[in-house]
Amino acid sequence: SIVVKTAQPVSEIQPTMWGVFFEDINLGADGGLYAELVKNRSFEFFKPLMGWKIQQKKFKEGTVTVQNRQEKNVSNPRFLSVKAENTVRGDLGITNEGFRGMGIKNGLRYDFSVMYRQTSGSVKLHVELINAKGENIGGTTLIPQKNGNTWEKQAVSFTANATESKGKLNIWFEGNGEIDLDIISLFPEDTWKKRPGGMRADMVQMLADMKPGFIRFPGGCIVEGFDLSQRYQWKKTLGALEDRQLIINRWNFEFSHRPAPDYFQSFGLGFFEYFQLAEDIGAEALPILNCGMACQFNSAEIAPLDQLEPYVQDALDLIEFANGDVSTTWGKVRAGMGHPAPFRLKFLGVGNENWGPQYLERVKIFTKAIKAKYPEIKLVNSSGTDPNGERFDYLNNELRSMKADIIDEHYYRQADWFLQNAARYDSYDRNGSKVFAGEYAAQSDKTVSVDNKNNWKCAIAEAAFMTGLERNAQVVNMASYAPLFAHVDGWQWTPDMIWVDNLRIYGTPNYYVQKLYSLNKGTHVLSMTQNNQALTGQDGLFASASLDKNTNEVILKFVNTSKQDISREINLEGVKKTEKTGKVWTMQSNDPEVVNSLNNPVQLSPKESAIALSGKNKFALTVAPGSFTVLRIKTL
Ligand code: AHR
Repeated sequence: SIVVKTAQPVSEIQPTMWGVFFEDINLGADGGLYAELVKNRSFEFFKPLMGWKIQQKKFKEGTVTVQNRQEKNVSNPRFLSVKAENTVRGDLGITNEGFRGMGIKNGLRYDFSVMYRQTSGSVKLHVELINAKGENIGGTTLIPQKNGNTWEKQAVSFTANATESKGKLNIWFEGNGEIDLDIISLFPEDTWKKRPGGMRADMVQMLADMKPGFIRFPGGCIVEGFDLSQRYQWKKTLGALEDRQLIINRWNFEFSHRPAPDYFQSFGLGFFEYFQLAEDIGAEALPILNCGMACQFNSAEIAPLDQLEPYVQDALDLIEFANGDVSTTWGKVRAGMGHPAPFRLKFLGVGNENWGPQYLERVKIFTKAIKAKYPEIKLVNSSGTDPNGERFDYLNNELRSMKADIIDEHYYRQADWFLQNAARYDSYDRNGSKVFAGEYAAQSDKTVSVDNKNNWKCAIAEAAFMTGLERNAQVVNMASYAPLFAHVDGWQWTPDMIWVDNLRIYGTPNYYVQKLYSLNKGTHVLSMTQNNQALTGQDGLFASASLDKNTNEVILKFVNTSKQDISREINLEGVKKTEKTGKVWTMQSNDPEVVNSLNNPVQLSPKESAIALSGKNKFALTVAPGSFTVLRIKTL
């Protein structure tokens, strides 16, 4: 039988335990979570007209050119100059193709906006959405209200009259005159919380449904950049959109396994928005900052120690931005963006997958400066990828001897590794640094192979491994699957937890495993043994137990990776009475290859049922082959 000791919990489970890892990879932000439909809205991509096409009828006069004001406006140097010479609708215009087309919904309002400078004459903008066949599916006309040399912003809305997943936007210029255009933008009305210029609501909802304990952002490798000039700089992601300086995305082309030459970071989704998102979904914010080292898989550029000060200052300023009151410099910036109350930041990451003594030297400098001013902030350091490799072990040991608060471990490994490592943390020092399993995903093929699938074989292996994370919650305080989002027409990395196209979304079996853990984490770990041993895969059975002190429920998780039913008597030692039924959620398949898809989004997802209990502290349980089962039993 299996014995669960309910009277003396082993340890607390941190509310942060199960969280999410967000990075702008696979069109995660631009073209994904960030609901902007216009690609290259400010003409700042390396090829200024990428994503745009100039339309001009034969023998019609007029020009459309890109201008560059360079140092006069460093954050947003380019704009479009249009000279219309007695043109009518259909003569002269531009078309934007969207990120991978535009997802348009029938009956939904679309908000078009543009910055313009009408220097002579008058030019009307006919704005229209078209479907894949080129037919109009809604639009309106924007008549610029002002003339002169200053930039103005104007907006207009209209309703789409058809649904289309590969829509495009046309803008036709009618009239006679000269007009400059910039930040040409189109957003759907149905963003998350209906915020103008906001996020795709279906994507945020999937996260909110998980009730994640934290959200890590903005990555991942994009924190590092392929050189230091292309690193993520949070200060450049705040304020007006036209002040947020675009950079190339680290996942753009030569550093990516599936090229995406049109992949840039517009920073429409910036640090303010990430903090707001964290607050919206009740998750702790976990920003990760560059530590003065670019991605070592790429340029390996490193800021010399005597030039590290701006990097450290960025970290100090970020804490002030999040937590400072409105009288502080950065607290005032936050308030100016609409959030006078602090965001209550508790965690901050220094570096992502950086290595070597250079990383440790930099961590020491950051830690000293941050702890001196903000001793309450828990710092996350990275021991990187390749668990048990030499580089990883070196960093782990060094960071532990430096008494790092939390160490971020990454493992993208095959499913078997996850099964074999369910006891990984059983031997970790209970009193040492805490662990953040910051990026993990079982790989059905090889790491970063284009053939990786989000299949049940991988998801059940992760479920099995996670019993070990939960059992060791005294050591493991945070965990997140990675990467989080991927667009079916624009990904660079598989597997990923949630997939989208321009209109639809689905959670993989891996998503549902994460969600079950997160929604059923409990407050305390309980000892659970069979023959005095933790269940770490003996006969294919993995299990863990927790207690929810708020609801007086015992929560049991079982993963049966074998090909047989497994039956056990469960003894809830210390419990006098339970309710006569318990709640059960099961994910089960005998097919390890089974996946979810846009057309079959919940093929493998939790099925809810009930289990009859004796009402005393013992009951019989059978778990099916290839299954992950969660039970909640109310004690009386
Ligand atoms: O999750 C994808 C990448 O994997 C992350 O950017 C990086 O941290 C890791 O190597």
